[in-house]
Amino acid sequence: MTSAYDLCKPLLFALPPETAHRATHGLLRAVQGTPATDLLRRRYVVEDERLETETFGCAFPNPVGVAAGFDKNAEVPRTLAALGFGHVEVGGVTAERQPGNPRPRMFRLKEDRALINRMGFNNHGADAVGERLDAEPLPDVPVGINVGKSKSTPLEEAADDYLYTYERVADAGDYFVVNVSSPNTPGLRELQNREALERILGTLSDAGAAPLLVKFSPDLPRPAVEEALAVVDDLELDGVIATNTTTSRPDSLRSPNRAERGGLSGAPIEGTATEMVRFIAERTDVPVVGVGGVSDAAGAYAKIRAGASLVQLYTGLVYEGPSLAREINEGLLDLLERDGFDSVADAVGADL
Ligand code: FNR
Repeated sequence: MTSAYDLCKPLLFALPPETAHRATHGLLRAVQGTPATDLLRRRYVVEDERLETETFGCAFPNPVGVAAGFDKNAEVPRTLAALGFGHVEVGGVTAERQPGNPRPRMFRLKEDRALINRMGFNNHGADAVGERLDAEPLPDVPVGINVGKSKSTPLEEAADDYLYTYERVADAGDYFVVNVSSPNTPGLRELQNREALERILGTLSDAGAAPLLVKFSPDLPRPAVEEALAVVDDLELDGVIATNTTTSRPDSLRSPNRAERGGLSGAPIEGTATEMVRFIAERTDVPVVGVGGVSDAAGAYAKIRAGASLVQLYTGLVYEGPSLAREINEGLLDLLERDGFDSVADAVGADL
């Protein structure tokens, strides 16, 4: 059946990707808090207790969330919840307001159902985002806050930079994510080493940030992942998010835009991200949030069976449109029934 998005997509895809994103975001913002949200909710929210999970102390109505980067300034979390998402991770937020990298900085790889972005943490900054979160009603699903490092802050001072942001958003977040894995802030991914992680995560943990998660790059070599997991265990963190975008370029890519610099997301990273989820889930008891290339129920289910307690997506939304959370949640219910699981929680790690 032709959906409304099938009709809109050629128009959106005729626009430069960032313009299309801004147009979509503007529409979601215009709708937020209006009666139209109730219509969206009726159309897209799948309510079923088999989808409900309790993960790191938060109650999630379903396991499908919006990944960081889509709502960098926390402007549309309630509309995203009305589209059926079970949580929304806003940000990356940095201590300083930042313009990000020069445009163009977001590219479609249509043939590959992928994106490359080098946004560079463009965001309104912790003060403004914190004020917005405090002033506007929050959605009825958990809100995670993804915290990045300001570009101008030297790596040695990163912990204080993350702390500044955390303190400004602390009241509104249901969970907090230390993002040390975006490829577009010079040197950021070096913070995935043991010492830096201990300093940053220890500082936030001491400040009371909880639940506290860390988000990894898919490019982190396996021994480094194991070391980072040791820090997660030592500091008794609440979870791990795997994965961010990759700077690698699989040979399978066909789009001419594969030559652009930045982080690749979408279908080409799906398998890598799922394998990273499995690698982590095999080595730790903390919940894993699986993200990378999810665009249908089968992909979400594969991550769940590989050990993900929750999944997130961004690029899939661009290619599949606003009914994606509903389609995944409905599809998950079918898959649970097919395989004899009573709930999503029962299927987590079934393949381990
Ligand atoms: C992102 N992502 C991201 N991640 C993060 O931790 N902080 C951020 O600010 C951003 N910003 C961002 C911008 C854009 C334009 C994209 C496409 C992605 C990464 C995102 O959260 C996710 O980890 C990856 O995109 C992989 O998931 P998908 O897109 O394949 O579902």
